[in-house]
Amino acid sequence: MKQKGLRYDGSIDKYPIAEGEIYCLGNGSKITIADITNGLPDFSKKADCVFIDPAGNKGVLKAYYTKAEKACPVQSFDEFVTYIKSCIEQIKPERIFVECFARNKNQILPMVESLFPNVKVYNNTYYHIKKNECWIIQGSKQPEDWGLDGMDEWDAVFKICKEVPFNAITDFFLGQGLVAEAAYEAGKVFYGSDMNRNRLAVAINRIAKRGGEWTIKK
Ligand SMILES: C[S@@+](CC[C@H](N)C(=O)[O-])C[C@H]1O[C@@H](n2cnc3c(N)ncnc32)[C@H](O)[C@@H]1O
Repeated sequence: MKQKGLRYDGSIDKYPIAEGEIYCLGNGSKITIADITNGLPDFSKKADCVFIDPAGNKGVLKAYYTKAEKACPVQSFDEFVTYIKSCIEQIKPERIFVECFARNKNQILPMVESLFPNVKVYNNTYYHIKKNECWIIQGSKQPEDWGLDGMDEWDAVFKICKEVPFNAITDFFLGQGLVAEAAYEAGKVFYGSDMNRNRLAVAINRIAKRGGEWTIKK
């Protein structure tokens, strides 16, 4: 029997998403399984906004691969950051938001600076705990301030989805679906992927609980 930890809340029993399947909503939102080191889903490349919350370092990344029951193919966190950068270059979005922590800010910030002429760093928290410090790094074509300073990441993502103009937002580390939930609530299109099907099933279930009706394309 699989360990409970790998199955999260067990949503996978209700939504057994498999490799190659695309879960779709009527408004064009999509979720599929993808490891970014093997390439992005084609639909993700149509997004004009990106929000991602990548693993914080090599150790955390390896743990995510273990949880996904996959072998970690990268030798260093720097190598992983080159894959992230390549994904963003393929999407060519108007703007990106990358959540980072003290342990990976030194790698994420220069990556965003290398891609966009305007970079803004917001001070944020996670899990609504003041001492849980994180940053949302925004890269954009024009200088912009979306007023995210001081917000918890959860509220910041909801604010981004509600107030930032975009046709579709993508998160290629969708996990349990914060970006999907926030975009769905705002009535916006999202494209989500992650290498871990158990985590994506949690996201799919959360959207269903908010009223989303999924169809599956093979
Ligand atoms: C910090 S979590 C993101 C949490 C997410 N914001 C949420 O709402 O649950 C990072 C996610 O990246 C995923 N991940 C890590 N490496 C990946 C890779 N190479 N390709 C795709 N997903 C990956 C993990 O499975 C994990 O779900």
